[in-house]
Amino acid sequence: MGVRCRQQTPVRSESIHDKRLRMARADIESGALRGAALSELLLSIPSLERDVWLDELLGFDEPPPDIANLPRGAVPYLPSGVDEILAMVSEVPLRRDDAFVDLGSGLGRVVILAHLLSGARAQGVELQEPLVHLARARCAELALPLVSFVHANAADTELDGSVFFLYSPFNGEMLSAVLRRLEDVARRRPIVVCAVDFELHGVTWLRARKTSKVSLALYDSCVPGVPLR
Ligand SMILES: C[S@@+](CC[C@H](N)C(=O)[O-])C[C@H]1O[C@@H](n2cnc3c(N)ncnc32)[C@H](O)[C@@H]1O
Repeated sequence: MGVRCRQQTPVRSESIHDKRLRMARADIESGALRGAALSELLLSIPSLERDVWLDELLGFDEPPPDIANLPRGAVPYLPSGVDEILAMVSEVPLRRDDAFVDLGSGLGRVVILAHLLSGARAQGVELQEPLVHLARARCAELALPLVSFVHANAADTELDGSVFFLYSPFNGEMLSAVLRRLEDVARRRPIVVCAVDFELHGVTWLRARKTSKVSLALYDSCVPGVPLR
């Protein structure tokens, strides 16, 4: 009679990469990984791998295709780079008592990371409903009660906040309409406007600051009677 061997289930050992991600993800979900520690962790990842690593860490999948009927002036979804987000948070600087708003927030990458790095309440305003649903799901899974997403056209919505972020989300009349809304906010309180990959020329109530990155422009509101931030 032959001897029967018990079938072995192949066990795949977890790679160092996967283990590091799993532990960092657990620390984010428990609230243990925030602020400077998260920033240091991101900077320890080689710069060419940093964006993919962040997506894996926070669980961002490939975005769905853009909706077919984007209105005139609206730019399709493309995520900001981690390096621009890190520079924005440290150079604004974004603080725990800020109200951060990403106008055209896509999958929520900037909103979620800005909140994790600073502790600030953070909101995304996004025109494309499927992206809003995905961003809300991400935020629920990561257990982030101070992060929220609104499905709206930023040009037609009442805005409020202390720091506004725009990664080239719109142009033309749509951008002019949003700037009028931001000016209304700046008449009530000082604000900072962050623009990635574009500049806001000729906006009389904004003053440009020097930044460490050519891709990042920062502006302080400058409205008579309203103190600087
Ligand atoms: C270049 S992506 C930037 C995404 C995100 N802010 C980031 O940096 O990762 C521009 C986003 O703005 C959205 N968008 C365009 N026009 C908009 C509008 N009027 N109101 C709200 N969102 C808008 C687009 O759907 C798209 O998701």
